Amino acid sequence: MAVTPYGTGKNKKEEVRQMFDSIAGSYDFLNHALSLNIDKIWRRRLIRHIKKYNPKRILDVATGTGDLALASLRLDPEKVTGVDIAKGMIEIGRKKIEARGEQDRLNLVEGDSENLPFSTGEFDAVMVAFGVRNFEDPQKGLNEMGRVLKPGGVVAILEFTMPVHFPIRPMYCFYFKRVLPLVGKVISKDFSAYRYLPDSVEAFAQGEDFTFMMKSAGFEQIGYKSQSFGIAAIYYGLKKQ
Ligand SMILES: C[S@@+](CC[C@H](N)C(=O)[O-])C[C@H]1O[C@@H](n2cnc3c(N)ncnc32)[C@H](O)[C@@H]1O
Repeated sequence: MAVTPYGTGKNKKEEVRQMFDSIAGSYDFLNHALSLNIDKIWRRRLIRHIKKYNPKRILDVATGTGDLALASLRLDPEKVTGVDIAKGMIEIGRKKIEARGEQDRLNLVEGDSENLPFSTGEFDAVMVAFGVRNFEDPQKGLNEMGRVLKPGGVVAILEFTMPVHFPIRPMYCFYFKRVLPLVGKVISKDFSAYRYLPDSVEAFAQGEDFTFMMKSAGFEQIGYKSQSFGIAAIYYGLKKQ
């Protein structure tokens, strides 16, 4: 059975949208506090990876409050687009973009990653951070990312993973499954969201298993780099020519 935020029996997409709308106001603060700002380092590494391909049109899928999209502006692209299903997250992202005066280069739109509102081959680079695990049908989301990417374009995906080695695994499990849900619950006031986070990470494909999904989506030259003792990974590939 799919891991969903509230277990109401509604479809996962609806519950995920509801959850991110509910926690949007505390998302950025909790994201950076609970990860001790390591999430910023991972996003920067992902951007460094796609830099080699000099992308001019970039898509950030499941952009949330736009942190990865904003980080990609350092590549001096012509246009960056972020897409997300949760209006609450997008609204906060738009405020951040306006505060930095970047609204001409960076646009956030409402849309579903499993049915992207863009043309085939429209982007030079497509990226997503902490999004794919939340999709109702992750394979469909990956296929869509492949569709909107130009042949030879670069894809980069940042996602949490569960560390496998001792003693990191038990230490991290204690933090991720006990401490984080408690702090998340107190600050976000959403009792399920930070319980859903470790549950969804544990249930999701990681490492080689995830690269098989990327292969099915039509990517090649696929690889991944484990981050910070295996608590996250950056996956990358190119769309077949
Ligand atoms: C954990 S947040 C990550 C946000 C951002 N990428 C970041 O790095 O902070 C996951 C985001 O995925 C979005 N999301 C989940 N399912 C989606 C879907 N089917 N289509 C578009 N966005 C989706 C959620 O609304 C949420 O904003």
